[in-house]
Amino acid sequence: MAEIVVFASGTGSNFEAIVHGLSGTPHMVACLITDNPNAPAVDRAKRLGVPHRIIPYGKPRIEAETRIRAALEPYRPTLIVLAGFMRLLSPGFVDSFPDRILNIHPSLLPRHPGLNAIRGSYESSDEDAGITIHIVDHGVDTGPILFQKSFKKSECHDFEEFEDRIHTLEHTWFPVVINDYLAKIEEPVHRR
Ligand code: GAR
Repeated sequence: MAEIVVFASGTGSNFEAIVHGLSGTPHMVACLITDNPNAPAVDRAKRLGVPHRIIPYGKPRIEAETRIRAALEPYRPTLIVLAGFMRLLSPGFVDSFPDRILNIHPSLLPRHPGLNAIRGSYESSDEDAGITIHIVDHGVDTGPILFQKSFKKSECHDFEEFEDRIHTLEHTWFPVVINDYLAKIEEPVHRR
């Protein structure tokens, strides 16, 4: 059985999809960590009975990361999952959890990294769009790609339909990819 800690900054729909998607597996979401006290993700955590920690960011970010490390201590998570976590983790933090941090991004990376990826993808001349799930490295939405799913943009009539399509793919596939990845790794996270 693996314990997962999810980091999220906003709506938390992927967080909720992961909680539901892993029920019935040996794995569980042990905690939600957010940098945003007003994140709807917090309400979801309360409703779902998942413990949460609110850790606001100031400067330097390393102070927030020190608090995050302390918050992770009771859980010894096998995996950290970034589900709409809009902070860049420091290289030192990422290196403390080698190959144990996953991120989801709403585009076919390396196209449209960073903020507003759904809008950027929709307004681009690309014929296809989709989602990417990858291992986190030191960059912004970079790192080894584990999974991508695409569709033809011409199948969507407007931006709302396009956005819905992206989110539906995320909610469907993120729990599956997490479960598959957990099957490949066994040991608790190594901390330096
Ligand atoms: C998701 O679309 C996720 O792919 C994106 O934030 C959204 C969070 O939605 N992440 C990024 O853009 C990371 N660069 P949610 O809070 O409803 O899960």
